[in-house]
Amino acid sequence: MALKDINLSEIKDAARDVAGRVGEAAHDTVEKLKRRDILTAPFMIEMIRTATNMYDHGWDERNGGNISLMVDEEEAAKYLDLNAVLREIPTGFDAPTLDGKYFLVTGTGKYFKNVQYAPEVNLGLIRIKDSGRTAELLWGYADGGKFTSELPAHLMSHAARLEVNPENRVVMHCHPGSLLAMTYVHDLDEKAFTRTLWQMCTECIVVFPEGVNVLPWMLCGTNEIGVATAEKMKTARLVVWSQHGIYGAGKDLDETFGLIETAEKAAEIYMKIAHLPLRNTITDEAMWLLCDRFELTPREGYLSPREA
Ligand code: 13P
Ligand code: ZN
Repeated sequence: MALKDINLSEIKDAARDVAGRVGEAAHDTVEKLKRRDILTAPFMIEMIRTATNMYDHGWDERNGGNISLMVDEEEAAKYLDLNAVLREIPTGFDAPTLDGKYFLVTGTGKYFKNVQYAPEVNLGLIRIKDSGRTAELLWGYADGGKFTSELPAHLMSHAARLEVNPENRVVMHCHPGSLLAMTYVHDLDEKAFTRTLWQMCTECIVVFPEGVNVLPWMLCGTNEIGVATAEKMKTARLVVWSQHGIYGAGKDLDETFGLIETAEKAAEIYMKIAHLPLRNTITDEAMWLLCDRFELTPREGYLSPREA
């Protein structure tokens, strides 16, 4: 080819194109190198520890229980390529306020006892879109599995709690034995149920001054129980599912675990004493003193009015 036939502008374009592609590849490689192993993420470590602890407490037999933890986008981006969607999974319900939110969620049918040994199989990280109708899988459910069958109750509860407290990050469900037992023998009226729990340990009213809400037995895994749970979550962070278990919500895994732990302890005391003659209790006056001491407002109308 003669020198005069060489089109300089074409060469320049080609060079620019190559340089652009090399730049992109280098950028991708740098981003990949910067991305850390998700199993070292603080949110992952805390999730694994919590699931293990719940199993050790006997709250999650077989595949019982499920957890969802909302993860901030910047946090997820430290560990994952947020453009790399592994699968799209339909949710079967609407949750319009959660679009773009990320959740680390236990898998359906998965055993809490196994989470620590195979997190990528038993957990998944999803991003919500299409007004809640679709979950984009970004990591996990490595055996082809999917999120808990209780996702409706989880996501609808997240939406409800975020309205009350923008700091809410966790919804947790499990089957603690004493709370479950209590729903067989105790009145399911929320005020009566709450007052009994408050009376069983001094610190109960301090930990959950808003009390616990109670749902009657309902079919689990449905959108209906999801809607009912979320409605109850508007006024309390604890919702008992009669003859099934409990839901807790909180700003982190520790707080939520602690809420359930405290309610379960109170139920345990109740089941120890319910059949015995009651000689002493924590009076309403004592509970008002606790409210003063910890600057709390108890659920309205749940304590008898203070004497003037
Ligand atoms: P999943 O295995 O679908 O999470 O269900 C467990 C459970 O506790 C249902 O209420
Ligand atoms: Zn359950």
